[in-house]
Amino acid sequence: MFSEKFVIAIDGPAGSGKSTTASAVARKLDIVHLDTGAMYRALTLLAIEKGIATDNNSALGKIAQNMVFAFKRDGSSQQISVDSRNVTSDIRSEKVTSLVAKYCQSPSVREAMVAKQRDVAKDASVVLEGRDIGTVVFPDAKFKFFITASIEERAKRRMADFKKMGRDVTLDELMKEIADRDREDSTRAVSPLRKASDAVEIDTTGLTPEQQADKIVKIVKQGQFRSV
Ligand code: DC
Repeated sequence: MFSEKFVIAIDGPAGSGKSTTASAVARKLDIVHLDTGAMYRALTLLAIEKGIATDNNSALGKIAQNMVFAFKRDGSSQQISVDSRNVTSDIRSEKVTSLVAKYCQSPSVREAMVAKQRDVAKDASVVLEGRDIGTVVFPDAKFKFFITASIEERAKRRMADFKKMGRDVTLDELMKEIADRDREDSTRAVSPLRKASDAVEIDTTGLTPEQQADKIVKIVKQGQFRSV
């Protein structure tokens, strides 16, 4: 569809709708989708299973370097495998979710993951979503977006996901959890969550994932047609 390769960087806080949006954008533009949060979650899963502490930078770095990821589109969702093991549901466990913010701060882990993320874009157009894509991984990305939504909206979305999984939580608990995670993600020393100065901000409160994706696709198509 396009005559040149390009990167779309999508950053934003937990529960802002990045993954669903990025997945729909990838489908509509027929390009690769990389969920970088899933990569940090997979690292966390392996580290927990191997009993490695959150501050064991060198051991964590070795795991991160040696992990071989495979992402496969599966309708509107994505299957992720590490070293040929399907970890799609294991990386969403409560344990992984509660520890990933600590494991992902290891400088060696970040270095290895950023290298892997850059590799994916060597041969293909790709939409990457995460926290530091437009600021650290691809500061020169052709398209940068920062997705937000109110804490209440994000908690409602998460509650709907939890209901499907049979988990019982209140909206207040989820709002607190999300506010805590925002604080942790944006105040950490290594690659904190922040909007790149040249990113387009999209507030997804009240928008469906299709509407969010359409906004991005429209901007990408306009930008692409200008440069062809
Ligand atoms: O988007 P998510 O909830 O699956 O992300 C899991 C964790 O990984 C979250 O604590 C933020 C972190 N993360 C990161 O530090 N950098 C990224 N590029 C993506 C996610």
